[in-house]
Amino acid sequence: MCGIVGYIGNKQAKDVVIKGLKRLEYRGYDSAGVAVINGALSVKKCKGKVSVLEKKLGTSENGNIGIGHTRWATHGEPNDINSHPHTSTTGKLAVVHNGIIENYGALKQKLQKEGYEFYSETDTEIVAKLIENMMDKNPGLDLEDAVRLSLVQINGTYGLAILHEDHPDKIIVARKGSPLLIGVGEGEMLVASDASAVAEYTDKVVYLDDGELAVITKDDYQVLNSHDIELTKEVHELAVSLEEIEKGGYPFFMLKEIFEQPKTVADCLRGRLNVEEGTINLGGLSKVTEELKNAKRIIIAACGTSWHSGLVGEYLFEWLAKIPVEVEYASEFRYKDPILGEGDVVFVISQSGETADTLAAMREAKEKGATTLGIVNVVGSTIARESDGGVYLHAGPEIGVASTKAFTGQVTVLILIALKMAQLRNTITEEKSKRLIKALSEIPEKIAETLKHSDEVKRIADLFTYAPNFLYLGRSYSFPVALEGALKLKEISYIHAEGYPAAEMKHGPIALIDDMMPVVVIAATNHTSDKMVSNIEEVRARKGRIIAVTSPENKEVKELAEFNCTIPETEDELTPLLSVIPLQLLSYYIAVNRGCNVDQPRNLAKSVTVE
Ligand code: G6P
Repeated sequence: MCGIVGYIGNKQAKDVVIKGLKRLEYRGYDSAGVAVINGALSVKKCKGKVSVLEKKLGTSENGNIGIGHTRWATHGEPNDINSHPHTSTTGKLAVVHNGIIENYGALKQKLQKEGYEFYSETDTEIVAKLIENMMDKNPGLDLEDAVRLSLVQINGTYGLAILHEDHPDKIIVARKGSPLLIGVGEGEMLVASDASAVAEYTDKVVYLDDGELAVITKDDYQVLNSHDIELTKEVHELAVSLEEIEKGGYPFFMLKEIFEQPKTVADCLRGRLNVEEGTINLGGLSKVTEELKNAKRIIIAACGTSWHSGLVGEYLFEWLAKIPVEVEYASEFRYKDPILGEGDVVFVISQSGETADTLAAMREAKEKGATTLGIVNVVGSTIARESDGGVYLHAGPEIGVASTKAFTGQVTVLILIALKMAQLRNTITEEKSKRLIKALSEIPEKIAETLKHSDEVKRIADLFTYAPNFLYLGRSYSFPVALEGALKLKEISYIHAEGYPAAEMKHGPIALIDDMMPVVVIAATNHTSDKMVSNIEEVRARKGRIIAVTSPENKEVKELAEFNCTIPETEDELTPLLSVIPLQLLSYYIAVNRGCNVDQPRNLAKSVTVE
């Protein structure tokens, strides 16, 4: 979603802010803007990418204190006027905002009655006018106090950074529901909504929590809670390297991230598997061993790709640990007034650890007394900090908006947890457990082998680049992979695609099949292979164009399909880690052929921090 960057120090603030915004552009990218103080406050903003904004900046934006924003529109179309920063009537105060002010309509009316005029359609402008109003009514009030008192009137979510011309030595930031951190430098400070924007300048960060406000000067920062009491915050060491947030020779982050998967899955497994002994070590779950052992039900809440990995988790937990599982869209979970009780364990899965709906689902579950565990990639993210325990993916920053390496990381973690629980609950034989652990340790190599067949996938992509529709079919563990394959394609190439359980196809989608329809069947060898063959025959009988994801050993499928994407054989439970790879590549190559911006697809955002 929107990205926020701020700088105060000895450097040109606009240079640091622009660089940071470029690193955050993957979060939202319809418009951008900066505000800098150099005697007076100067604001430049426009529709389009950060590079468009960069060209517009001149000497009037010189200065050592500044804030910037890259926008993903919520209120008001993306245009120059609605871009952030938003300013007060006097033009002395500037605000950048991530989140949604839910009562902005009522606040706006109130201020309009007092004579304030509004120039934009955004909810954010209200924040600038509200603080201005507070300062007008209370001459001499400190900027931070004016911000704090204004925020009391706001319902909704925000990550805010605020500058004022009359207070040129400080940036005020505040957080409720949208991520914000302080990058602590020497003689300089940064603020950002994501660590990648500060990684070049410092490896020390302070994460703000909800309800906190910080006053940031060149040499210091002060974090206050909503009662204006100063807090001592932990300074964290940043785990992000510059190399990880650059493209490293690949044309797109997404392709880099697809090809990184042998390494990211290996990193995820590192130190967690003991192949000889057949044991699994998950430090982040050690405090909840008893809860896992005695769990009566597992609930998984997530959004998007993370929800798909949750569906893989459902099969894993039920098969291996023999425990009932419900997978919920995080956005729906909290509105069901979920019934939670003793023995319920709630897993929330989130790459970013900041998705608003997932976070809300976790808080709801926590409030109702459930054990909440996070499966998260971003270290130090809100979900990671607020959950009772959890397991990190260790996949490194994922920058392409369409999730790839996070999916395989999540599935890897779910396999580890399901196996661990199966061992704790004695629902797996030692022989099977050892076999799966060994097979899991071989997966990074097998992903690398799968990637060697990328040319095969590219040739298929070239043939079907302009197909208007795609159908993806799978059974058992391959059903969530079918959903994920379809999601990848629609996200980045804008082709309509649907994923279906293969047998369910007969109840609707079969009506769409004709000789123009590509049908991707995920036919990893498993206990449903024979049934898959029947479904393939049904598609063939209607002249659908079969693209199979299968292993060379699966001769029957291979021969029936018109096109094949090769994956190696592995254990049933681990097949999603291989079968998803050709689907990621297929969507990537098709999107590139269609001239789409793969890393920044239209209308999407990497981290959805509004509900
Ligand atoms: C957005 C992203 C998806 C992601 C989903 C959930 O829609 O574009 O790639 O799967 O959010 O994000 P999370 O960070 O919670 O996994």
